[in-house]
Amino acid sequence: MATPHPSATVHGLAIQEVDDSALPVIHRLNQSIFDEERVINSFNRKGLLMLMASLQDRPVGFKIGYEKQPSVFYSAKGGVLPEARRQGIARALLEEMLVVVEAQGYRRFVFDTFPNKHPGMTILALSMGFSLARADYNHTYQDYRLQLAKEL
Ligand SMILES: CC(C)(COP(=O)(O)OP(=O)(O)OC[C@H]1O[C@@H](n2cnc3c(N)ncnc32)[C@H](O)[C@@H]1OP(=O)(O)O)[C@@H](O)C(=O)NCCC(=O)NCCS
Repeated sequence: MATPHPSATVHGLAIQEVDDSALPVIHRLNQSIFDEERVINSFNRKGLLMLMASLQDRPVGFKIGYEKQPSVFYSAKGGVLPEARRQGIARALLEEMLVVVEAQGYRRFVFDTFPNKHPGMTILALSMGFSLARADYNHTYQDYRLQLAKEL
């Protein structure tokens, strides 16, 4: 694991880049947050980046993304434990991911979200300067899906 660095905004919060050794913790967080086994379809992705958020050294959230196309980074999944929400942790994870991938040379950051199921991420992204890039109906999830994007 890389050295964590403290978030400037939330007391006791550290966001750290993690490697495969953190997968058991990510699976546990994913199960608690999304109530599902699958985290993402494959971890064998170019540019895979996994961030973990810990509050007073306790893992409370994660965010995973990878390269979608040259110059485009895709944030595939992320979340925060229910008891740790509305303290700015998702914002800190997103801000850190934006900083890291911009430094890596990506020019555009995108993610898909289901605002009826999880409204918080859409509201957070719009407040951080993302704009709507695509909207469709997903037949697998039987719900409307938005793609939000930000130029870096
Ligand atoms: C969405 C989620 C990641 C937000 O995590 P969080 O740490 O609570 O978010 P933050 O505290 O950083 O929120 C920052 C801002 O986003 C917005 N926001 C976050 N959650 C919100 C919600 N449920 N409803 C409305 N606005 C919300 C608010 O503007 C908030 O600022 P405020 O608290 O000052 O009003 C979390 O609720 C979660 O894990 N949900 C389930 C999984 C999920 O939706 N994942 C993302 C799928 S794309």
